[in-house]
Amino acid sequence: MTYKNKHFYIEKISAEKLAKKFGTPSYIYSYNSLKNNIKNFKNHFRSFKPTICFSVKSNSNLRLLNLISKFGLGADVVSKGELLKALKAKIKPEKIVFSGVGKSIEELKFAIKKKIFLINVESENEIIEIEKIAKKNKKKIDIGIRLNPDTDANTLKEISTGKKENKFGLTKKKFLYLVDKYKYSNFINIICLSVHIGSQITSHTPYKKMLDIVDRTIKDSRYKFSYIDLGGGMGIQYKKNGNKLNYKKYSSLIKSFLKKNKVKIIFEPGRSIIGNAGFLLTKIIYIKQTNTRNFIILDSAMNDMMRPALYKAEHMILPSKLSKNKINRRHEFVGPICETTDKFLTTLKYQKLNQNDILIICDVGAYGMVLSSNYNLRPKPPEILVNKKNSKIITKREKLISII
Ligand code: LLP
Repeated sequence: MTYKNKHFYIEKISAEKLAKKFGTPSYIYSYNSLKNNIKNFKNHFRSFKPTICFSVKSNSNLRLLNLISKFGLGADVVSKGELLKALKAKIKPEKIVFSGVGKSIEELKFAIKKKIFLINVESENEIIEIEKIAKKNKKKIDIGIRLNPDTDANTLKEISTGKKENKFGLTKKKFLYLVDKYKYSNFINIICLSVHIGSQITSHTPYKKMLDIVDRTIKDSRYKFSYIDLGGGMGIQYKKNGNKLNYKKYSSLIKSFLKKNKVKIIFEPGRSIIGNAGFLLTKIIYIKQTNTRNFIILDSAMNDMMRPALYKAEHMILPSKLSKNKINRRHEFVGPICETTDKFLTTLKYQKLNQNDILIICDVGAYGMVLSSNYNLRPKPPEILVNKKNSKIITKREKLISII
């Protein structure tokens, strides 16, 4: 993804051409970025060959899931819907992990019927329900138990999950109690300790703390786990000079952990696999100048991409055509929705923009389309897959008729 002769290209097609062909707003994904992200991810951890289960919540496009599966990944799902979608994308049940604090009994029954690899439980009640289903089916069910390590992930508090005040996982005390209670069960087979402290983590330090706590918990449990599921959370670079997770350091922390514990590692990455492979193409509807700022009013809005409104997340916005004409003025890139939080970004200068210009909102592959809605009765954008010179629709633009 670079500028060629001042025009922005996604693989070998210019953003302007894509906008013309598919309209705006549109989500565009780069096949080769996805492929490279997976290759790099595997490479970072190649010495211990983890089981990698893509976190479907970050992007549940059927075609992309199918590709991700072809590139060798399994799936981490959190609902019956995601489980069905993963299966439909031909991800094998034995490569699917089911996470989440509130799996319904129907969801548990369905997951058990499909013989998925692992259910990561987060409460005693959930184990009791699984035990009931197992008894009825005369089966022994493999589970993981999620530990809440009370570790600060040093990320946005809205996407932190590993502190004791978060609803996720179980305290070490409760974890040890449950391992003890179920270790000789005829219906429950504890095979995994799972943990996930948050998302968009850009330093290895929280992971170090997490691993230390996991290590101590394993020792104190005196139990032989086959797997440790370390979750996902690996951050990406949303800003040009933003922090970057040092995979080498994270990997060597895990390697020394593995010297003490003979277990297999599971990862559940989402953002690091698909985040930077997605772009949201948008067109400027109007430019409104006030005494203090320029409002750049786009045809995409918070219903298409929620992250800025939800978390004050900042995504780079690039012009499809570069110009040297810079304007030193506050620019606010906003959508047409009737909410003040319908704002993507504020910058203090930007190149001169015009009505109908095409812009690219970057790094929206993860938690972009999946969080979209029909708020203000706006139809959802299409999703397009680009591979070199080829482009094709992988989700059609929603028709107004279907939402009215
Ligand atoms: N495993 C579990 C148990 C999770 O809860 C999550 C994310 C993941 C794996 C994947 O994490 P990742 O590798 O993508 O960081 N909507 C928010 C992010 C919410 C993350 C929820 N859990 C955002 O847009 O930043």
